[in-house]
Amino acid sequence: MQEVISTISTLLGDLLIVAFIILFYLSIKKCFWQSGKSRILLFFVSFFTNPFIVYVAIYFIMAIVSTGIKIFHAVSMGIDDVDALTDIIKQSASPSSLSIDLAVSWFIYLLFMFLFAYLIGKWLKAPNKSLVIFVYLLFSIILICTFKSSNILGDHPMLQSIINITDSLVQFTALFLTYHLDIKALSKMTSQRREINWKIFVITPTVLGIIFAVSSALQFYKDNSDVIIAFYIFSDVLLFLFIWAFYVIIQNINATNDAIKAKDEVKTLSVEVMEALAHTIDAKDEYTRGHSVRVAKYSRMLAEKLGLSAEDCENVYYMALLHDIGKIGVPNEIINSTAKLTDDEYAVIKTHPSIGYDILSEIKSRPDLSIGARWHHERYDGKGYPDGKKGEDIPFFARIIAVADSYDAMTSNRSYRNYMPQDKVRSEIENNIGTQFDPDIAKCMLAIIDDDIDYVLHE
Ligand SMILES: [Fe+2]
Repeated sequence: MQEVISTISTLLGDLLIVAFIILFYLSIKKCFWQSGKSRILLFFVSFFTNPFIVYVAIYFIMAIVSTGIKIFHAVSMGIDDVDALTDIIKQSASPSSLSIDLAVSWFIYLLFMFLFAYLIGKWLKAPNKSLVIFVYLLFSIILICTFKSSNILGDHPMLQSIINITDSLVQFTALFLTYHLDIKALSKMTSQRREINWKIFVITPTVLGIIFAVSSALQFYKDNSDVIIAFYIFSDVLLFLFIWAFYVIIQNINATNDAIKAKDEVKTLSVEVMEALAHTIDAKDEYTRGHSVRVAKYSRMLAEKLGLSAEDCENVYYMALLHDIGKIGVPNEIINSTAKLTDDEYAVIKTHPSIGYDILSEIKSRPDLSIGARWHHERYDGKGYPDGKKGEDIPFFARIIAVADSYDAMTSNRSYRNYMPQDKVRSEIENNIGTQFDPDIAKCMLAIIDDDIDYVLHE
């Protein structure tokens, strides 16, 4: 009976190592592998940088080096008795001397984990290297919690085997839970290629890893088996808490990512709808094709030149895109008339700012959109329409659109003329500073014209 339980305990311990190696490989593959890299090569790389293999290698090297140093000291002090040297080697493997080696090994091990994770992240071109480090540290925490003295109850071999079996089962559960909860959620995050604050992913596991490395090293100082059993239970409970905590953190970040993505999609949709509307307005007038989009572009250039915030530059772009939407309410015959407009026809044309304002006022979530539509035909001297507003009373964004609108009218073809030469456009704007146009904005437009040496800013 004792034999059977002992065999099961050893077998489970070995299986745990195999599961650790395979799940680690699968985790790296799931999160960071891109097709094009050899799977076999990835398996070998993940095997030789596997937290378990690296730890065992460091631990043996440390043990050999420290024993070598002790023998060297003994020999240099004149001890050459074979029995005395054998005692030194035996002492080196005793729990009290192991604890120092163990603590140092854990620290060297963590340094290697950072180095390997960084190199592998580089090799696999991982979008976020801190996530690779996180996966290495996540498995390290499982390893640190797994690495306990396999023989704490030397005088109770049966009880010892039962404890080892229970412990292996706990570690199996922890490994599979990590893979199913944390790694799967993490792979979703890496596939979205979002920039993630590395501190969340690296600082917490590092601190936990160090605390655990020190406490597991310290357990060798305690001869009391009750203390060690308490440590076993404590480490298992904490291990599950870590896994759960990381799961919650990763899920929260994923939920935020989904929300940002949904917001981006809605934003793209509204921009596309606005651009489609702008094309609809322009299609009504065969001589002003592309007018709205160009006015929007020039308005944004002006806003940038005036030093407005990125948000304001974007707002003025949308406002300008829809500035002529009121033309929908003006009959096609009047808009496309090639003859000189009668006073009545001109009066109808002049209603488009207020029609546009009424339409856009319906968009309650963007009340600012209607501003450009209503006041883009106002003049700085107050002689414009529909309200005859003057100077600073005209909303700032509408004054920007007014300059951009006139610039496009002069630089695009009309039924009765081709677009004007650049120097003529420039002097036209210069002559109307303070009368038709806001002086600051018009000067900005002149600067833009002067920068446009090849005259590319026209229809
Ligand atoms: Fe207009």
